Amino acid sequence: MDYFNYKNDELYAEDLKVSALAEQFGTPLYIYSKATLVRHMRAFEEALAGRKHLICYAVKANANLSLLSLMKSLGAGFDVVSEGELRRVLQIGADPARIIFSGVGKSRAELTLAVNTGIGCINVESEPELELLSQICAELKKPARIALRVNPDVDAKTHPSISTGLKSNKFGIAIDAALPLYQRIAADPYLQVSGIDCHIGSQMTSNAPIAEATEKLLNLYGQLEEAGINVDHIDVGGGLGVTYNDETPPSPYDYLAAVLKRVGQREVSVYVEPGRAMVANAGILVCEALYIKKTAVKNFCIVDAGMNDLIRPALYNSWMNIIECRKNQGEKMLCDVVGPICESDDFLGHDRKLAVQAGDLLAVRGAGAYGMSMASNYNARRLPCEILVDGDKAQVIRRRQDFADLWAQEELLPF
Ligand code: LLP
Repeated sequence: MDYFNYKNDELYAEDLKVSALAEQFGTPLYIYSKATLVRHMRAFEEALAGRKHLICYAVKANANLSLLSLMKSLGAGFDVVSEGELRRVLQIGADPARIIFSGVGKSRAELTLAVNTGIGCINVESEPELELLSQICAELKKPARIALRVNPDVDAKTHPSISTGLKSNKFGIAIDAALPLYQRIAADPYLQVSGIDCHIGSQMTSNAPIAEATEKLLNLYGQLEEAGINVDHIDVGGGLGVTYNDETPPSPYDYLAAVLKRVGQREVSVYVEPGRAMVANAGILVCEALYIKKTAVKNFCIVDAGMNDLIRPALYNSWMNIIECRKNQGEKMLCDVVGPICESDDFLGHDRKLAVQAGDLLAVRGAGAYGMSMASNYNARRLPCEILVDGDKAQVIRRRQDFADLWAQEELLPF
C-alpha cells in the first residue's frame, strides 16, 4: 500500500496534488511519500518483533541523503556496497555498528575504510577477499567482524539479471566450501566470525526460495556450532518483491515468518537487507507528454523523461505502471510511452492504454527503487529533481542539476 491515490480524478502524493507539484518543481520529477516509507519500515519491524534483528536498508535502491536520514530515524541500519555508499551513510551520521558492507569486488581502499570505521559486519564474498582483509587488519592492528556471503545455489525464480544465488552467478562463496574458511577466520588474530550471509536475488514474489536458502544457511550454522564456531547473526539478504503489475508478493510479515519459522529457538540475530520492498512504491516519476506521434503502425506518446531518468524498462524490459496524473474522460489510446533519448530502447512502457494529450502529465509508479539511483546524464540530460512529501508539505531533497553541473568535473583543454 502507498499514499499515491486519486481524489476527484486527480492523483495525489499524500495530501498534495501531483499536477501542482509538477508545476512548482518541473518535470521529470521524482516524488517520494514519507508516510509510505514509514509504513514499510514498520512492516519490517513488526515482522521481526520479539527477535533480535537488524534491518539494513539496501542503499543502492535509493541513496538520497534525506531518505537515508529518514530510514535512520526509523531505526534502520544500512547495507552498503561501495565506498561511496559507505560515505553517504556516514555523512548522515549512521552508527557504524549498524552498517554492513556487501559486494563482490571491494577494493583495498574500501576494505581499509570499513575496518577503520569499525562497521558492524563485512560480508566477504571470496577467499582472496578474505586474505586481503586479513592482511589489512594485521597492518592496521584492528579487528573486523565478518560474515561469509555464501552462495546457497537456490533459484530465486526471478529475472535472470537480478538472480544472484545460483552456482553459476558471480556472487558469494559456494556453501559447501564455507566451513574451512570460517575455521580460517576463527584462527585469525584480528578477524572475528560474526554471521552467515546470503542474498539470492531481487523481486522475489514467493517465500519458497528464501525458505530454502534459510534452511541451507541453518545447516551451515549447525556445522559451525559443531566445530565450536559461534555465529551471532544470520543475514537473509534483500529480495522481497513488490507489485508493479499483477505480481502478488508476500507481505514482509509472511516473508519473514518463513525465515523465522526455520530459525526457531536458535540464539541468533536475524538480519535483512531490503531495498526495493522499502522504497519502490514510495516513489513515482512524473513526466510530461511532449508530443503524440501517430504513425501507420503505432502511436507514440513522447514524454520528457527517458532511460537516463529511469532505466529499468530499457535495461530489464521491466513493466512499470504508467498512469494519468489527471484522469479525464477522453478516449484511451494504445501507445508506446517513450523518452526523448536517441535509442530505440528508450521507453517507459509499451502498448499502454492512456487518455493522454500533449501537455498532460503521466506518473510511473513503483519508481522509488532503482530509479534515481540508476539515473545517468546520458544525452547530456540533467538528473531530475527529487522531492519528499510529508502530508501537505513538500521539500526538495535533491535539486535538479544545473547545466553547468554537467561539465563541472571536466577540463577544457585550450586547443
Ligand atoms: N543486498 C544485496 C547484497 C544486494 O545485492 C541487493 C540488491 C539487496 C540487498 C537489495 O535487494 P532488494 O531488496 O532491493 O531486492 N537494479 C535492479 C535490482 C538490482 C538488485 C541488486 N542487489 C532492478 O532495478 O530491478
